[in-house]
Amino acid sequence: MPNSVLREASGKGQKVLVTGGAGYIGSHVARELCDRGFEVTVLDLLRENGGTGNHWAVPKKAKFVQGDMGDASLLATLLPKGDRFDAILHFAAFILVEESVREPNRYFQNNTEGSRTLFQYAADTGVSRVIFSSTAATYGEPRHDLIPETADQKPVNPYGESKLRSEKLLKEIAKQGQGPMKFVGLRYFNPAGAHHSLEIGQARPEATHLVNVAAEAAMGKRSKVMIFGTDYETPDGTCLRDYIHIEDLVDAHILALDYLEGGGESDFFNVGYGEPYSVREVIDAMKRASGVNFPVEIAGRRAGDPAKLAADSRKIQAKMGWSPRRKSIDDICRSQFLWEKRRIELGV
Ligand SMILES: NC(=O)c1ccc[n+]([C@@H]2O[C@H](COP(=O)([O-])OP(=O)(O)OC[C@H]3O[C@@H](n4cnc5c(N)ncnc54)[C@H](O)[C@@H]3O)[C@@H](O)[C@H]2O)c1
Repeated sequence: MPNSVLREASGKGQKVLVTGGAGYIGSHVARELCDRGFEVTVLDLLRENGGTGNHWAVPKKAKFVQGDMGDASLLATLLPKGDRFDAILHFAAFILVEESVREPNRYFQNNTEGSRTLFQYAADTGVSRVIFSSTAATYGEPRHDLIPETADQKPVNPYGESKLRSEKLLKEIAKQGQGPMKFVGLRYFNPAGAHHSLEIGQARPEATHLVNVAAEAAMGKRSKVMIFGTDYETPDGTCLRDYIHIEDLVDAHILALDYLEGGGESDFFNVGYGEPYSVREVIDAMKRASGVNFPVEIAGRRAGDPAKLAADSRKIQAKMGWSPRRKSIDDICRSQFLWEKRRIELGV
């Protein structure tokens, strides 16, 4: 079924829990769920309590609870006794690869053990649908041209490992549920861009992802963009990555809920376009989008950066009818640049 039909679908008062709904991706999905009539509860640590989320990013129509998804006693208070969520969408995690290398235990504790508690809560209370944010980082450095879901999962950093362990827990715990607990794990490639309203977008104090870094350089927030390695076996010598517009990623979550409601089997799906762009192409696109010729500096390769990471996303297209709308790298960069400008007006 094409997305345009599902975009009319409504939440019909269904109760959903969105963990990490004050963060970048979770806030976009929470907003879409509210717009469709779901009764959304957002659970997030927030920046001031050791998380990275922002209260202003939580949709006004959502109920907000500040706290830890790994706190079983807090989870038990989210709904009156005997009541249960129709679905849980689980975004909450720490996501910085370099930080995970410095503090692996913090990542395993928060991402994996926290997810264990949350999945157990879902199983114990009879939640029938769980959508989990996984990542291409669970694959590590695969040699595929386009990575299928069946590729070996050999993460090369604690962040990726913490998410792979969460995937395994989800599979195990789903089997123990009181009723049928079905799940979809979405393995995102490189999300970027912002909501078309420019009311929400990625708002970390320090950007780490290329599209965000380039937008910051275009805004003069940083002096240059570094290119790490120009001697890869790629057309222009720089690394290729699969960028995906946040709004296409939001669609994948709505479709995943519909897929499970319609009897779809628990499964993991890649979410990327399979049409990667190089570091140089992204930089050029950001220069076109912003009209700013910001400086670029070339440095050596970084350890653990594969030449190419791109999704084989035929499965999500075939099984859920996902059909991306915002594939152009120029569109993605324009969206990110406009958001970066808007952040200054909003003071966020
Ligand atoms: N951004 C990406 O490039 C990317 C790529 C692949 C996968 N993902 C996955 O997508 C999800 C969302 O990522 P994001 O980019 O929105 O990150 P983000 O940092 O913007 O959002 C994560 C949110 O989770 C919250 N959080 C963290 N630990 C928590 C806890 N124990 N209890 C409650 N809230 C907690 C944070 O406060 C934050 O609001 C993550 O699970 C991440 O692994 C992200």
